[in-house]
Amino acid sequence: MKTKLTFLISYTFFFDLTLLSDIMPQTFKLNLDSIMTHVKLDPACANAVKNFTLPENLGFGTVMAPVMASVSYEKGKWGELELLPYGPISMYPNAKVLHYAQEIFEGMKAYRVGGQGPFIFRPEQNHLRFNKSAERMAMPHIPAELFLKACFEVIAYCADFVPRRSGESLYLRPFMFATEEALGIKPSEKFRFMVIASPSGSYFSAGGLSVLIERHGARAFPGGTGYAKAGGNYAASLLAAIKTKNLGLVQTLWLDGRDKKYIEEMSGMNFFAVINNELHTPQLNDSILEGITRKSIIQLAKDEGITVVERKMDIDELITDIKNGHCTEAFACGTAAIIAPIDYLAEETGERYPLLHHEGKVANVLREKLLAIQEGRVKDKYNWISVVEPKTF
Ligand SMILES: Cc1ncc(COP(=O)(O)O)c(C=O)c1O
Repeated sequence: MKTKLTFLISYTFFFDLTLLSDIMPQTFKLNLDSIMTHVKLDPACANAVKNFTLPENLGFGTVMAPVMASVSYEKGKWGELELLPYGPISMYPNAKVLHYAQEIFEGMKAYRVGGQGPFIFRPEQNHLRFNKSAERMAMPHIPAELFLKACFEVIAYCADFVPRRSGESLYLRPFMFATEEALGIKPSEKFRFMVIASPSGSYFSAGGLSVLIERHGARAFPGGTGYAKAGGNYAASLLAAIKTKNLGLVQTLWLDGRDKKYIEEMSGMNFFAVINNELHTPQLNDSILEGITRKSIIQLAKDEGITVVERKMDIDELITDIKNGHCTEAFACGTAAIIAPIDYLAEETGERYPLLHHEGKVANVLREKLLAIQEGRVKDKYNWISVVEPKTF
């Protein structure tokens, strides 16, 4: 009860409800300066920003923005937040993260389509999920002020490098890792939290996804860490990614770790299927990451009058539904890809289950609705986006 109240109070405090314009009367403006957290600016940042040019071809996550935020945790306390030029970091080889994978991260996007914004989508949700991941991985909570300030400062100083074409964005990667120099298998007592950013294009090129049903390996299991955004979960998915690629497919669909019967999610996206004109998605459990895109799609779909069903989804029933035409469409969703329609599901044996609306009939409607809000092209009646005021040195 007490924690809940603290969050309510703190979020009300951060979000200065200043109206922006007639086009987006619901948009609220984040007043960066109302967050009291002090930031130490490395003077070298000015040159780093001045010397950076945005390349024409961006790709996803390869071009890095010229500044990054960093703050360390020691003796039970967070230190001073710093803004530094993007570059290598130094760490001892016995830092615990390198041996025991005590690491968590988040993924968010800032948009600036047509030069407005930058807008950021539901950052408080990323902060809440970050702390949930931190708890699971025996790491300290990070206060909302610190998490948000670090993200906003990076966006604010990189506002000129937020790409402006629809589908493009500044991808933000907040992350925390264990830095204590000791090889004992014990929770670290020292950590570092950082935010880096990458001006990015679309995650997938055009065309539907081809998806391998992974019937052997497991990414997560009951009682494990699947619901946390912890690096180790992604490491656990990489061997299957190689198999998927070798089969000429692009994504892996994970089933529950115990029975290999129920659909869970992809390695970096949640899963939806259109069955009898309803939207079905696996109900959350401790081996599925609760996607913010998933949550937003459920809300948008319900508001469009679409029935949304969150339930255990048996993979073999889904295949029957695809074959008999009850399931007409399936798609994956997440911050990076937003919504990506699925062309077909496939077995390792080569058998394929093509989706009737592989172009994404429902998926495209929902994608456009969501992206229009994220890019600030329509009225944001949900108060999901916030504006970050650009800053210069
Ligand atoms: C395993 C996994 N599932 C689902 C998602 C989708 O989450 P979100 O919509 O918050 O990006 C992600 C990406 O963050 C992910 O890594």
